[in-house]
Amino acid sequence: MVSQAFTNLVKNARESVTAKLAAEDGFSGQVRVVVTSEDGTVTIRIQDNGVGFPPQRARLFEPYVTNRDSGTGLGLSIVKKIVEEHDGRLELLDAPAFESNKHHGAEVKMTLPTINAEGQRNGS
Ligand SMILES: Nc1ncnc2c1ncn2[C@@H]1O[C@H](COP(=O)(O)OP(=O)(O)OP(=O)(O)O)[C@@H](O)[C@H]1O
Ligand SMILES: [Mg+2]
Repeated sequence: MVSQAFTNLVKNARESVTAKLAAEDGFSGQVRVVVTSEDGTVTIRIQDNGVGFPPQRARLFEPYVTNRDSGTGLGLSIVKKIVEEHDGRLELLDAPAFESNKHHGAEVKMTLPTINAEGQRNGS
């Protein structure tokens, strides 16, 4: 389930970078995945230097909300459900600017509890 969530997020990042590439000659699109771990949680950030989130980001978690011609709008709603079912948290943020350009793309931050020695989720 978590790998499906991850796939959806990388697909979104790739599409956002591709959209910017179509609008800007010579643009160097990048997608970064940053993984950190502390205090019983693991944080996975999927960052891109694409077009950035549209306004009203909170609505993007709702099913069928899409800004793409061939999108279903289900990607983020599925990711949110999967993350919540694992007692995790999902946030839509601005990515830090990548070196090659000052524009802020999108960052999706996924925070998940790790499993302790007894096989239980930390914090639950
Ligand atoms: N990395 C991103 N950068 C910019 N906008 C994004 C990004 N990820 C999602 N969005 C915005 O959120 C909307 C909803 O995303 P979601 O994944 O739910 O559906 P979709 O990508 O449009 O369709 P599908 O997932 O079926 O291909 C997108 O249409 C887009 O406007
Ligand atoms: Mg999507």
